[in-house]
Amino acid sequence: MTVSVLILNGPNLNLLGTRQPEVYGSTTLADIEALCEARAKKLGIDIAFAQSNHEGALVDMLHAARGVHDGVILNAGAYTHTSVALMDAISSVMLPVIELHLSNIHAREAFRQHSYIAPVAIGQICGFGAAGYPLAMEAMVSHLTKAQ
Ligand code: DQA
Repeated sequence: MTVSVLILNGPNLNLLGTRQPEVYGSTTLADIEALCEARAKKLGIDIAFAQSNHEGALVDMLHAARGVHDGVILNAGAYTHTSVALMDAISSVMLPVIELHLSNIHAREAFRQHSYIAPVAIGQICGFGAAGYPLAMEAMVSHLTKAQ
């Protein structure tokens, strides 16, 4: 069966391209989606790409991923640093989740250096800008193939 990965983006990531380009680069979320589609084709996997500014909607999308996707790549944006609900959702759905950030959160403000996602993720990729998305896809495929 074809591997299916959900790539989920949290608050303010819809503004990529114009949002603090000095931090997040000039690539838009649509550009990133195209990058992911191209890598999915190369890897022979299916992806679904989604974004929401709402914490509960992200929780709902994680729940809905059960039985539909094999893994989730999650850039939870600022909810990374605040959301026990997202942490609990990840623990509850028992799908492998890779935490992703465009910026290197460990080299930024102290409040960004704590992640509620990290303890329940299989790993974290940050600091590589848009290139982190295809890197996370490679990592997820490697994890899923190893696990079988
Ligand atoms: C981010 C880092 C978060 O701290 C921030 O709140 C974001 C984007 C990143 O991709 O670098 O919204 O997740």
